[in-house]
Order: sequence, then C-alpha cells, then structure tokens
Amino acid sequence: MLTPDPDSTPIALEAYEALAERYAARVDTKPHNACYERPATLSLLPDVAGLRVLDAGCGPGAYADWLLQHGAAHVTGLDLSPRMVALAAQRLGERFPGRVTLHQHDLNRPLDFLDSAAFDLVICPLVLDYLATWEAVFAEFHRVLRPGGVFVFSAGHPMGDYLYHQTTARYFETERVAEVWRGFGEPFVTVARYRRPLAATLNPLLAAGFILERLLEPLPTEEFAQADPRDYAELMREPVFLCLRARRGGAAAGV
Ligand SMILES: C[S@@+](CC[C@H](N)C(=O)[O-])C[C@H]1O[C@@H](n2cnc3c(N)ncnc32)[C@H](O)[C@@H]1O
Repeated sequence: MLTPDPDSTPIALEAYEALAERYAARVDTKPHNACYERPATLSLLPDVAGLRVLDAGCGPGAYADWLLQHGAAHVTGLDLSPRMVALAAQRLGERFPGRVTLHQHDLNRPLDFLDSAAFDLVICPLVLDYLATWEAVFAEFHRVLRPGGVFVFSAGHPMGDYLYHQTTARYFETERVAEVWRGFGEPFVTVARYRRPLAATLNPLLAAGFILERLLEPLPTEEFAQADPRDYAELMREPVFLCLRARRGGAAAGV
C-alpha cells in the first residue's frame, strides 16, 4: 500500500463544512451539477442494479440517492466533511434502510476499514481535485474493487483549470490554487484545490493498474442553456470538467 504524501492534508475541510447545507440545497438543480457534470458522469456507469458501490466523497448524497434509486444493492458513502456525512444520512437513511453505510473519512488516508474486492463499482465525482497526489488513493480504489470492477470519476479539466488560472499557472506542475465560489450564494467561500496537467490526471490511473475505457469532455445540456445562457455559452467554448471510466483488470468484466 502506498503511504500518503506528507503534504496531503485535507485542504477542503473548512470550505465544505461552511458550504455543506448550501451545497445540499442546490446540488440537485444547480446547472453545473445537474445539467453538465452529473449527466456526463452517470452516462459512464454500468447498469448499477445489484451492485455494491463505493461513493468516495459522497457529499450530501445526490449520487448515492441516484444509485440506490436505480437498484444498487448497497452504497458505502464516505466524505471528509462531517456535515456532508450528516446531510447524506438525513437524505438517505430512512428511505433506503440497510442499503447505505456512511463514514467520515479523509481520502488522503488508506481505506483500511474496507475489505479488498468488496465493491463492483467505485465512483468519485468532483472530489479528487482536493488531493495533491492520486497514486495512493487510486491504489486503494483498485484494491477494494473486485477484478473486472469499474471506477468512474470526474475532476477539473486540465486545460480548463489552466485557462482559469493562467495568469499564475505553470501548466506542467500540480499546483494548489484558491477559488472564490459565488455560485452557492453569500457569504462567498474560498475553496482551495489542486490543478494538474493531463499527465498527472491519467498516469496515476494507469500506474494503479486500471484500464482506461472512456474519457468524456462533456458539454452542457439544453436545460443548462435555459437555466443560464451565459455560462452555457462559456462551457460550449471551454471545458471545466473531465469524466473518466476505467476498469480493474484481472478477470471477466461482468458489469
Ligand atoms: C464538489 S463536492 C462533490 C460531492 C459529490 N461527489 C457530488 O458530486 O455531489 C466535493 C466533496 O469532496 C469532499 N472532500 C474533499 N476533500 C476530501 C478528502 N480529502 N477526502 C474525502 N472527501 C473529500 C468534500 O467534503 C465534498 O463533500
């Protein structure tokens, strides 16, 4: 097992503790999630009926809710932010009894409370930008997936992130950046995250032993155009997210 990078302290805890309720209130309808990132990421999933799923960085549970509604046998959700975990429990607990387990956990740390080959599917949407390095966490996702299992994640698009931070960014470095988020209302929250080049996005996945199956550079949906024509026009010109599907090799696919 790889050990965590000493710099990998959880940089997003304060921001997400501050944002948790507002994120939970908007994640189902906010255009960047509902009409851009989520449809693209969901399009990469296999049929989830009967699957054991790890939702790594589950936030307030929007993805877990979708997975359970679409027949996942069980979802294990984890998140750094205790408030997010509480909101996920509030959203999911009573509606899906016995089918959800939630943990407060920092993905910079090993998943040593989870058995090897315990999951058919691991998802990690919009979370990895808060980790300085991906080698250790991808090795853990690989370990907890059964052979042939699927890993789907979304993250900042290397080009989009570079353009956004280009006055200071050095493309080839993985750099900590700070962004003031206005999309969740006031008070605005400064969110620390990492931007990284394409090589640092793909190589850790391959180094962990995953086979890359699909890479999406999503476009906003028509509903986005109705909801927010200005951001829609911008997203039709420049990418913000990247969505990937990979498979743990080693056996017949099955899902
Ligand atoms: C943009 S939200 C995405 C939530 C959910 N995946 C979704 O798409 O709705 C990012 C989430 O990542 C969590 N997060 C950030 N750093 C983390 C870490 N080191 N370990 C686990 N979760 C983390 C935050 O607390 C937050 O809930």
